[in-house]
Amino acid sequence: MRMYDIIEKKRNGYPLSEEEIRFFIQGYTDGTIPDYQASALCMAIYFRGMDDKEISILTDAMAHSGDTVDLSRFGNLSADKHSTGGVGDKTSLIVIPVVASLGAKLAKMSGRGLGHTGGTVDKLESIPGYETAMDGDTFMRQVEEVGLAIVGQSGNLTPADKKLYALRDVTATVDSIPLITSSIMSKKLAAGAHNIVLDVKVGSGAFMKTPQQARELAVKMVTIGKLCGRNMAAVLSNMDVPLGTHIGNALEVKEALGVLRGEIHNDLREVCEVLASNLIAMVLDIPLEDAEVRVKEAIDSGAAYQKMREWIEAQGGDVRYIDDPSLFPNSKICYQVLSPRDGYIEAMDAEAIGLASVMLGAGRERKEDPIDYAAGIVLCKKVGDYVRGGERLCLFYTDRENAPDSAEKKYLSALTFGDEKPLEKPLIYEVIH
Ligand code: URA
Repeated sequence: MRMYDIIEKKRNGYPLSEEEIRFFIQGYTDGTIPDYQASALCMAIYFRGMDDKEISILTDAMAHSGDTVDLSRFGNLSADKHSTGGVGDKTSLIVIPVVASLGAKLAKMSGRGLGHTGGTVDKLESIPGYETAMDGDTFMRQVEEVGLAIVGQSGNLTPADKKLYALRDVTATVDSIPLITSSIMSKKLAAGAHNIVLDVKVGSGAFMKTPQQARELAVKMVTIGKLCGRNMAAVLSNMDVPLGTHIGNALEVKEALGVLRGEIHNDLREVCEVLASNLIAMVLDIPLEDAEVRVKEAIDSGAAYQKMREWIEAQGGDVRYIDDPSLFPNSKICYQVLSPRDGYIEAMDAEAIGLASVMLGAGRERKEDPIDYAAGIVLCKKVGDYVRGGERLCLFYTDRENAPDSAEKKYLSALTFGDEKPLEKPLIYEVIH
């Protein structure tokens, strides 16, 4: 078999066979197929697409290009959640203890933040003592005993995706539905869970800017996950506005704790309830309406909060910070951003707000940058709110003396003001099963 013929076949619009797809993934992973041929094939796929059979074979081949996690000991109880990434997106910190408190088993590997979006591992590391690296046996024992564990990515999971994603990033082939689907779903398949809920974000702070694009991706990921034998649901949720009010690592942990203690009833709680209900409905094989009731009870009874506490303690975290979030260190500077005018906030560019939080030290511009766990933004006004000139829009927390000026410019450039109350956009566009 020759890579040249595979590229030519796809360039001419024909579906690739299973043998051809597996030949490509194996050869690219082991280095016998060079970058220039792999990038030519990615570009041919970008223009010609792939049918569902091709995508499911590609996904499976990538999932098996390295190690895989075996969760078969948990039967149908194994569960996972994935978000396509957003600003202020701390849903994992809430959804995972909620579903674990209802009997699901979650052995989760999460990423770090880069650019305008944060990562769950960084958020958890803001809790003193929390250990994000664990050996495989300890990880599995914790999942068995506590119901959940969240660690950083380690080992040799989906090496084909690591190489291909880096290549796509520099060859203008990231935004291809077959390639995104196989990239995300191969990682989920390799991570082993039987039930998967996807949070596909839509809007200015998301990878997918319109509901149509997000829907196309979500339908494809659900289809491919099911073809590969998993139970799937995808929630299309709004990311035109940051989720909740807190952006930044320790700040997001504090907000998540507020939701789990039943103190906060906002858009964040609503999205978490939808994600958790859809996931637990699959895990326990119960109607969605029953799952919704159980999820609310798990939060309102304190069971989910107790599960969070148990989990953090099992993973070495200092639970005094969970019991009393005021113990988290404060930034040296707390800076108020004031409204330049009267009016309604018509729109917020969530990506620009995420970038303002990075300027304050809450995120990374480059992979090796350090993070200031206390830094970030607390929003006081969101889309649809009326503000008076001079009224507080948000609070910045930082140790960087010169950062508030430039971050304030960025933040204000992200807001659009108007004289009319804007039409409300849905928080959840659709759930796809
Ligand atoms: N996220 C991924 O993991 N892969 C993609 O291709 C795009 C977003």
